[in-house]
Amino acid sequence: MTKNSSNIRTLFEPKSFAVIGASHDTDKIGYKIMNNIVSGGYAGKVYPINPQGGEILGNRVYKNIEDIEGDVDVASVVIPAKFVLDAVTRCAKKGVKFMQIITSGFSETGNTEEEKKIVAVAREHGMRVLGPNIFGLYSAPASLNSTFSAGTVLPGHVAILTQSGALGIALIGKTAVENIGLSTIVSIGNKCDIDEADLLEYLIKNDDTRVILMYIEGVKNGERLISALMRTTDTKPVVVIKSGRSKRGAMAAASHTGSLAGSDNIFDAIMKQCGVIRADSIDEAFNWCKFLAFSPKPKGNKSVIITNGGGVGVMATDACERYAIDLYDDQAELKRAFESVVPSFGSTKNPVDLTGGAKAQDYDLALSVPTANPGIDATIALYCETATFESADLVPMIKATHKKHLDAGKPVCYAIVGGTAVEDAIIRLRHDNVPVYGDVYQAVSCLGMLYRSERSKTEKTGPAEDADIDIAAINRIVDGALADKRSFLLANEGSAVMRAAGVSIPQTKVAHSIEQAVQIAEEIGYPLVMKIVSKDILHKSDAGGVALDIDNKEEVMDAYEAIIKNCQAYKADAHIDGIEVCEMVQKGTEIIVGARRDASFGPIVMCGFGGIYVEVMKDVAFRGYPFNKAEAMKMLKELRSFPLLLGVRGEPRKDIEGLIDALIKVGTIIRKCPRITDIEINPVVVYEQKRGHKAVDSRILITG
Ligand code: ACO
Repeated sequence: MTKNSSNIRTLFEPKSFAVIGASHDTDKIGYKIMNNIVSGGYAGKVYPINPQGGEILGNRVYKNIEDIEGDVDVASVVIPAKFVLDAVTRCAKKGVKFMQIITSGFSETGNTEEEKKIVAVAREHGMRVLGPNIFGLYSAPASLNSTFSAGTVLPGHVAILTQSGALGIALIGKTAVENIGLSTIVSIGNKCDIDEADLLEYLIKNDDTRVILMYIEGVKNGERLISALMRTTDTKPVVVIKSGRSKRGAMAAASHTGSLAGSDNIFDAIMKQCGVIRADSIDEAFNWCKFLAFSPKPKGNKSVIITNGGGVGVMATDACERYAIDLYDDQAELKRAFESVVPSFGSTKNPVDLTGGAKAQDYDLALSVPTANPGIDATIALYCETATFESADLVPMIKATHKKHLDAGKPVCYAIVGGTAVEDAIIRLRHDNVPVYGDVYQAVSCLGMLYRSERSKTEKTGPAEDADIDIAAINRIVDGALADKRSFLLANEGSAVMRAAGVSIPQTKVAHSIEQAVQIAEEIGYPLVMKIVSKDILHKSDAGGVALDIDNKEEVMDAYEAIIKNCQAYKADAHIDGIEVCEMVQKGTEIIVGARRDASFGPIVMCGFGGIYVEVMKDVAFRGYPFNKAEAMKMLKELRSFPLLLGVRGEPRKDIEGLIDALIKVGTIIRKCPRITDIEINPVVVYEQKRGHKAVDSRILITG
């Protein structure tokens, strides 16, 4: 199979474009697309194709793709589903480079076979396919609007990639109302071939695109997406809206790792890892995108809040904490800089409070300070409507101070609260792309996202390396369990996997007689734990198959007999493989470590507050694997219980480095041994620094 090497740029900037199913009927989608292409000012060659021939919007209509003399870079297909495969085959033979399949009625309705055939034909001929089930694509650099959107698209700097066609079409209208210009909007649909990762490759290099907004419903090839997003956020911000925060899917998962993971938690964690900003609503996403597209980048992280009201000032201070914005705190310098504009009963502390009597000229002066002061990097300007501020001055004051900030290359956002005059001002100013909001949190969140996207460029932890583990030994254990027709490993097999990976486990051996149990016990030393080994008894404690705190030879013999007796009584036909004699693990900090192969994102590692309260505390963090030690440390720092590892109230620091090592080893197992689908170790008991850890109870699921 040939996979096309055509530059993805051709999809966005084609020199020639065919519309298969271009219609003379002005009500049909095939006409609307033609109309948008022609009225949008596309400068390339346009080839409408329709068996009737004739002319559409001044363009000669070809009866067949084969009749076109020249090359065709992109062909859009707008004919009923049953004819699409034939059209694709003919385009492939003609040497068309990219296809946009608008037509619905493929995998989204269960017609997966036809979609597969389309992909097979396309791949065979080196052609790439966007869709099916899409509304098309708009590309500002080519002035190409091959969508069937109702209104015109404003050219600009925001790129939108959307999986939902209907939402995408609606967004075109909404961006026009909000005066948000687009560099491109692409409908991805069923992603039979081209997916988000392919499109990001173009957007990374496209200079028109300053910020990317993605609407995602499901991820198909997550590992590629992670790598593309990592590279994209190095150069420009990515905002994502993902539907499906529901926990229902997670409920069905078998292990803690599965149920705590939930697909949405994983999505969230991976987006953070990639430096992607996640928005909850369309409005939030639009606000952020618009701000990110137009704001200068901050040179440092010190912001100042300037207000005429104490209440909104406090709200903004809270919002700054939520969005990790640092406030400028040099009190002497603040006093010196703002003293002349703040009345004696106001405050020069940050928030700088001009008080309720502030007029436009006071704001002018106060908002000029940050633009000239090298210590202040960004401004949050707040205004509460008062009778002393002439409402007609509001828009000019904001426009002028906004311009001063732009000229100084410093970010500013405004939150203005009040009645009709204020609301009118918001509409007018927003239309002119001035970042004005009717709510303090909205305004501050925009600045917060600017800082977050800048930080994400520098905070990435870099390349990752797998741990050196004995994969052959692990595979042999899996072979044995599969030959035994099991989808899980027995406790002793789990321990053997951990040993092969170099994860520290309690010393343990399986005894097949009382004499052997005593011999092992004397080797390991006391205290000890003894556990039944039987594939027929999964809940060992319920069966009386566990004995704790064994301190001497006599207790070993008693426990051996009691365990066998209890288990035979519990399940008479249970096959007993022996009794595991284990070192009894000393108390330490209990952590849960898990890893699994996620259907969308591939290998995932989980870590959190462990022990029996893991489900109650739900204090866990996830990462897509591979990652390096620095990323593992970031993961641990996300835990609310991280201070337990640092040591509280004079306790010594725990062996965090050893735990990080274990996380990477567990990730390596999942990545390198594809038949292992789930690993959960609960608890991993972590001891003081340099004293290591013990992985006490590992459950491992496998698949043939
Ligand atoms: N080559 C060239 N032209 C052809 C061919 C062919 N092989 N076969 C048919 N045509 C012509 C037809 O003669 C017709 O032209 P005419 O109007 O001059 O007679 C034209 O192509 C269209 O064919 P119709 O049979 O009239 O199909 P219609 O336009 O009704 O529907 C469509 C086609 C729009 C692709 C439909 O099948 C469909 O899938 N609609 C859903 C599209 C959609 O919503 N996509 C997702 C977008 S995102 C969202 O949800 C908004």
